[in-house]
Amino acid sequence: MKTSYPVIGFIGLGTMGKSMARNLIAAGYSVNLYNRSPENLLDLVNLGGTARDSPMAVAKVSEIVLLSLPDSKAVESVVYGEKGLLEGLNKDSILVDMTTSQPQSTRKIAEDLRQRGIHMLDAPVSGGPKGAAEGTLSIMVGGDEKTYLKARPLLEVLGKKLFFVGPAGSGHTLKVINNLLYGTLFIASCEAVALGVKAGIEAETLIDVISSSSGHNHAVNVKFKEKVLSRDFSPGFTLSLLHKDMTIALELAESLNIPLETTANAYKLIDRENQGPLQSLDHSALIQLFEKALDIEVKKHPNT
Ligand SMILES: NC(=O)c1ccc[n+]([C@@H]2O[C@H](COP(=O)([O-])OP(=O)(O)OC[C@H]3O[C@@H](n4cnc5c(N)ncnc54)[C@H](OP(=O)(O)O)[C@@H]3O)[C@@H](O)[C@H]2O)c1
Repeated sequence: MKTSYPVIGFIGLGTMGKSMARNLIAAGYSVNLYNRSPENLLDLVNLGGTARDSPMAVAKVSEIVLLSLPDSKAVESVVYGEKGLLEGLNKDSILVDMTTSQPQSTRKIAEDLRQRGIHMLDAPVSGGPKGAAEGTLSIMVGGDEKTYLKARPLLEVLGKKLFFVGPAGSGHTLKVINNLLYGTLFIASCEAVALGVKAGIEAETLIDVISSSSGHNHAVNVKFKEKVLSRDFSPGFTLSLLHKDMTIALELAESLNIPLETTANAYKLIDRENQGPLQSLDHSALIQLFEKALDIEVKKHPNT
C-alpha cells in the first residue's frame, strides 16, 4: 500500500465496480468498500480492501470516493439516504460518479456538495466488463478541471483513454449520447445481419466481412463476435441499463426540443422489450427477436 496515494472509497461493486476496485487495490491504493449486498465484497477484502458498513463510514475515512451504481436513483439514495455520503464526506474530499447517471441529478448533487466544500466529478465509462477488468476503459469526465487533475492518477489506473469534457454533468451527457448512438447501431446491426443470414450468407463470414468494411461498428465488431455468435447472453451490459441510458438521452433531446427520428425509432423496440424477459440479460439477446421473425439463427459455423 503506497502511503503517498489518496485513500479511496468505492461504492457499488457489481459487474463494473468490482473490477475497477480490484485494479485500484492491485495498484497499491488503500480502498474502503461498501456494497448493498456485503457478501459480494468478500473477494475484494481477501485482496486487501477494507469493508465498511455504510456509505457514510466509507466517506469518513476516504479522500476520493468512487461510485459505480445502476442509475441516478441509486446514486441519490447513497448520497442523501440515511448513513449516506453526505453524512460522512470531509471538506475538500472528491466524489467521482462513474455511474451512467442523469446529468440533471448530477448537477444538483455537485452543487449540494460544492456548498459544503466537497468536489464532484462525473466520470462515466465505456469499454464494458472487459475494459473494466483490463483497466482500458474510456472515461469521460465532467466537473472542475483542477479536481480532475487531482483525480487523474487514479483514473489512469482504470482507463486508458481519459477525456475532460466540460463542467458538471458533461461527462454524463456525453455518455448517454454515446449510448443512444450505440443502441441504435445495435438494432440496425441486428436488422442487417439477420437479413444477410436469411439471404443465405453464413453468419460468421457476414460478420467478419462487415467488421472489415464500411458498415463496421462496435455492435458487429465486438458484440456479435463475442456474444451473439457464441450464444452467450449472460450480462455484460444488460438491456435494462441500455434502456436507462437511451431514455436519459431522449429526455435530453425532448428538453431541448430536438426531434430524433432514427434513434427514437430504435428506442421503441428497446423500450417494449425492456418490459419483458430480456430485461436482465445482456442487450445482445435482442438478436433473438430478429431470429424469431425470420426463422434463422446467427451462430458459429458448425466446423469452427
Ligand atoms: N456493464 C457494462 O458493460 C457497463 C459499461 C459501461 C457503463 N456501465 C454503467 O456502469 C454502472 C454500473 O453497471 P454494472 O453493470 O456494474 O451494474 P451492476 O452489475 O448491476 O452493479 C450495480 C451495483 O450497484 C449496487 N446497487 C444497486 N442498486 C443499489 C442501491 N439502490 N443502493 C446501493 N447500491 C446499489 C449493486 O449492489 P448489489 O450487489 O446489492 O446488487 C451492485 O453492486 C451503470 O450505471 C451502467 O450503466 C456499465
